[in-house]
Amino acid sequence: MRIVSSFSEARSAAMEAYHPSGGEEGPAPIGLVPTMGFLHEGHLSLISRARRECKVVTMSLYVNPRQFNVSSDFDRYPRSFERDCQLAAEAGVDILFAPSTSEMYESTESTAIHPGRVARIMEGTRRPGHLEGVALVVTKLLAGLGAQRTYFGRKDAQQLTMIRRMARDLRFPIEIVGCPTIRESDGLALSSRNTLMSANERETALDISRGLWAAALAAEGGELSAEDLRRAVTADRDRVGWEYVELADQEDASLLDTLDRPSFLAAAAWVGDVRLIDNVFFDMGSDGLAVDRGILLEGPSLLYR
Ligand code: PAJ
Repeated sequence: MRIVSSFSEARSAAMEAYHPSGGEEGPAPIGLVPTMGFLHEGHLSLISRARRECKVVTMSLYVNPRQFNVSSDFDRYPRSFERDCQLAAEAGVDILFAPSTSEMYESTESTAIHPGRVARIMEGTRRPGHLEGVALVVTKLLAGLGAQRTYFGRKDAQQLTMIRRMARDLRFPIEIVGCPTIRESDGLALSSRNTLMSANERETALDISRGLWAAALAAEGGELSAEDLRRAVTADRDRVGWEYVELADQEDASLLDTLDRPSFLAAAAWVGDVRLIDNVFFDMGSDGLAVDRGILLEGPSLLYR
């Protein structure tokens, strides 16, 4: 594994590996996995998918200040560079791109990305500026690192929808691959922020995945009303502070009244002073509705190791 800290080094390191001397097996893509570090099995699942599908795997590690609308949230975001380097190397990352803020942002720059309607609901209204900050940093990574494929988790459903749209709207020559949510064995969606909760808060946080699963079961039983699905999430689960529960279109994150297309049921809730998001995806297969609840780990997450 090589560790580099500038776009140009990351690009040339990937190109060297991409065109090995004498290699004539045809084009093989560079895969990019953007992260903010403090890696867990969710991130590792993206890396291993990229490892299977790409010749070269670049992982970016940058805690992007522009996507934190509250500065205390940025300050306490968990960080451990040594730990991340070790996990990334073990997972088969070829190039770890860990830029400084001056590499990422010029002090005089003025270009912004406006994701449009997709960023004016759910996370967009609750965390003003967050999705614009994600859009800007992801644009820089997609434009600057030369990858042909990039991997994102369904865990951040609205983010994934926004990035897909942006890549399509701006004609980025890059494939966006969405991957299932990895969960702890009791259902809690893995998040670096889980480490900020006490054992009691962690137990309380299970209300979120349990609520979503109750709604998923109702949908599998034929319930199509968004209002009833939303109620199934929160009913009798008032230990967490629900911020929103919405059914949204996978295409553009617009809010739906009826489950009649590929969509996701997304929730944001507070547990103490930690804000968590989670969702279940509703895909439409040839046999009808297919619920993607994500994948459960068998044992404790490496977050707690
Ligand atoms: P971060 O929260 O570090 O997540 C990096 C990637 O891992 C994202 O695509 C996210 O959706 C995915 N991920 C997180 N938890 C997951 C889980 N439990 N299962 C599967 N995938 C999971 O999301 C960001 O960073 C940033 O916004 C970023 C895209 C890097 C831009 O700064």
